[in-house]
Amino acid sequence: MSWIFFREALANWRATGAVAPSSAKLARRMIRAAGIETARCILELGPGTGPFTSQICAAMPGGARYLGLDMNPAFVATLRARFPHLRFETAPAQDFDYAEFLGPEGWFDAIVSGLPWTAFPESLQVAILDHVMPLLREGGVLATFAYSGFHLLPNGRRFRSLLSERCSRLDSSRTVWPNLPPAFVYSAVK
Ligand SMILES: C[S@@+](CC[C@H](N)C(=O)[O-])C[C@H]1O[C@@H](n2cnc3c(N)ncnc32)[C@H](O)[C@@H]1O
Repeated sequence: MSWIFFREALANWRATGAVAPSSAKLARRMIRAAGIETARCILELGPGTGPFTSQICAAMPGGARYLGLDMNPAFVATLRARFPHLRFETAPAQDFDYAEFLGPEGWFDAIVSGLPWTAFPESLQVAILDHVMPLLREGGVLATFAYSGFHLLPNGRRFRSLLSERCSRLDSSRTVWPNLPPAFVYSAVK
């Protein structure tokens, strides 16, 4: 998995935005923050090679629905082979027609995002947040992560403030040191 990730990061640096897949420890922190154990409908954005997906699989209740979106077809091919019982689509998070998956009155209970927000311009941060936050039920959680230190860069600060404007509570975890680079989790409660 790490080799595929490294190859794709070299070929698509801006969209991948990382040098290595997230660690199991960061994945566990994300899944706890998102409340996956009780979620009936889960959206994962930017699953990459699937470090969060494998923990989602282990934690999600029987019968829960899952949709994973990544714009990199090489990652989606890997994910489909690795998790044949889950649904993955190759699509940009800001454009996908989620109503087709959810149905007219559906909601996501949890959104797990591995997107590299700090590498995105403001227009893309806004486009994605405004496309997915309305689909999160009241009280649902969007969990995402930031690399420690990078969150202080202008794009990182702007992302935090855009996220905070769109939720009722925003918490940050302690730093997860066993990750390359060390990172922490934002949990945004709608
Ligand atoms: C930092 S990697 C994280 C991968 C994995 N979640 C992890 O933590 O190891 C970011 C992922 O987001 C995907 N991505 C970037 N921009 C995207 C977009 N607009 N829509 C969907 N996926 C996107 C990339 O292809 C990549 O798989």
